[in-house]
Amino acid sequence: MHVCFKKLATFLFFCFILIIITDPKEWPIIEPLPSYGRGRERLGGRHISLIHGDGLTNVVITGNNGTIDGQGKMWWELWWNRTLEHTRGHLVELMNSQDILISNLTFLNSPFWTIHPIYCSNLVVKDMTILAPLNAPNTDGIDPDSSTNVCIEDCYIESGDDLVAVKSGWDQYGIKMARPSSNIIIRRVSGTTPTCSGVGIGSEMSGGVHNVTIEDLHVWDSAAGVRIKTDKGRGGYIANITISNITMERVKIPIRFSSGSNDHPDERWDPKAVPVVKGVSISNVVSFNSTKAPVLQGIEDAPFDGICMKNIRLLGVVSSPSWRCEFVSGFADDVFPAPCPQLQMDISSSRCSYS
Ligand SMILES: *[C@@H]1O[C@H](CO)[C@@H](O)[C@H](O)[C@H]1NC(C)=O
Ligand SMILES: *[C@@H]1O[C@H](CO)[C@@H](O)[C@H](O)[C@H]1NC(C)=O
Ligand SMILES: *[C@@H]1O[C@H](CO)[C@@H](O)[C@H](O)[C@H]1NC(C)=O
Ligand SMILES: *[C@@H]1O[C@H](CO)[C@@H](O)[C@H](O)[C@H]1NC(C)=O
Ligand SMILES: *[C@@H]1O[C@H](CO)[C@@H](O)[C@H](O)[C@H]1NC(C)=O
Ligand SMILES: *[C@@H]1O[C@H](CO)[C@@H](O)[C@H](O)[C@H]1NC(C)=O
Ligand SMILES: *[C@@H]1O[C@H](CO)[C@@H](O)[C@H](O)[C@H]1NC(C)=O
Repeated sequence: MHVCFKKLATFLFFCFILIIITDPKEWPIIEPLPSYGRGRERLGGRHISLIHGDGLTNVVITGNNGTIDGQGKMWWELWWNRTLEHTRGHLVELMNSQDILISNLTFLNSPFWTIHPIYCSNLVVKDMTILAPLNAPNTDGIDPDSSTNVCIEDCYIESGDDLVAVKSGWDQYGIKMARPSSNIIIRRVSGTTPTCSGVGIGSEMSGGVHNVTIEDLHVWDSAAGVRIKTDKGRGGYIANITISNITMERVKIPIRFSSGSNDHPDERWDPKAVPVVKGVSISNVVSFNSTKAPVLQGIEDAPFDGICMKNIRLLGVVSSPSWRCEFVSGFADDVFPAPCPQLQMDISSSRCSYS
């Protein structure tokens, strides 16, 4: 079995700001992230996370499968009843930090995204259990954001949003900051999220996302298995993504790459800033009782290019011809159901690289 870091003993404990307050109005507000320009949900600043670290080195957050309960219900209700004034905080957010291990813990009921490393490097998240009610809004599991050298492995996640989502900033703010997410491995992750995806890239990806390997994923009862989400105004790029050995049961759309997020930080987003999506290889996928064939919808002025698929079995898909492809090109080899014509049958294409 592969392990990301062998010398775990060299990590040290470090201090965090830990805050216990029950009235959301008293929960401190911090500056928006420069790559987002504002809070993700509301204008202006955002609530600080339950566990927040900035500028740290050598961080270990671990325990013998102990539990941290984010008690997010109060925050989900503020979201549902539309009285939330500032963007919700995370269960853990680490900013501008490096050499981080988060392992062997159960995180419950995050107010918002559960683990949010941003502007970080050398991060391992391993042997984590992340749970939230399946309808809890935006309770993503792990969201590496403008971070590099990240390994997420052996995690079980069930929540109300993407199990793992790779991000890198929002529209003109993310473009300006230009901090990509790169050199990321996501493997042996399993779980369910009824309205969202197993692993997603985006929709905020304006600083670029490259060199991501996703493997040995097991997803069930979810809306999508692997998802790329972007739109006009995002700019940035998604490149060199390798996805393999994905098993799914009762996932509605096993593979979904699309534009159409259509949410922007403010009126100053640039409609000419189109994202470049280039080089995404998917192999060894089996999906049982899925309902729809892949959706591959690029952007009119910026087609998704080099989308490669090999040894894919999507069983249970009802209608045929069933793929929805638009503004996309690539190659397919041994794919069922038969792919759309935009994916040429060319086994020898040197433009595809499978792990
Ligand atoms: C850790 O705890 C969760 C419940 O909090 C449990 O579901 C899970 O099986 C435990 N994992 C291990 C490895 O003991
Ligand atoms: C909204 O939810 C919060 C948190 O549960 C609650 O304190 C508040 O009274 C609710 N507001 C409305 C208008 O329902
Ligand atoms: C997690 O706990 C298991 C069992 O106690 C242990 O073998 C393993 O080394 C721990 N992993 C990490 C990354 O701390
Ligand atoms: C891609 O990422 C992997 C995993 O982090 C790393 O080992 C590899 O060197 C990276 N490749 C490039 C070309 O940077
Ligand atoms: C594929 O992934 C599953 C976990 O979903 C794992 O059990 C299996 O060993 C992997 N197969 C290969 C060939 O790596
Ligand atoms: C993608 O990989 C190719 C070949 O390894 C490399 O030449 C290119 O620079 C990479 N692009 C990005 C954005 O990582
Ligand atoms: C798929 O659906 C059939 C018919 O409803 C059912 O018998 C079978 O158990 C399902 N398989 C999975 C993996 O959900």
